[in-house]
Amino acid sequence: MMKPVLVEICMGTSCYLLGAQALLDAIERLPAEKRNQINLCEVACFPECRKGPSVRINGTMLSGMTPSHLLAKIEEYIH
Ligand code: FES
Repeated sequence: MMKPVLVEICMGTSCYLLGAQALLDAIERLPAEKRNQINLCEVACFPECRKGPSVRINGTMLSGMTPSHLLAKIEEYIH
C-alpha cells in the first residue's frame, strides 16, 4: 500500500477569497483511484496570505494555485 500524498489547502480568509474552495472542489472531483491516494487537509493559515491560495503538498509550499496547476502538481506525486 502506497503512502498517501498529503495535500494541505489553506482555507483562511485570504486564500478563501482568492479561490481556495475551487482547489478543494477540484480534488474532490478526482476519480476515486486518484482521490484515494490523497490525504486532504484544510488548514487555517500558512504565512503566505498575500500569495494565496496556498497549498502544501508533502511539505512543499506552493502559492498562487489554480485548480489546473494543483491537479498537474498532484499528478507528479500519485501513480
Ligand atoms: S489565509 Fe492562506 S496563507 Fe494565510
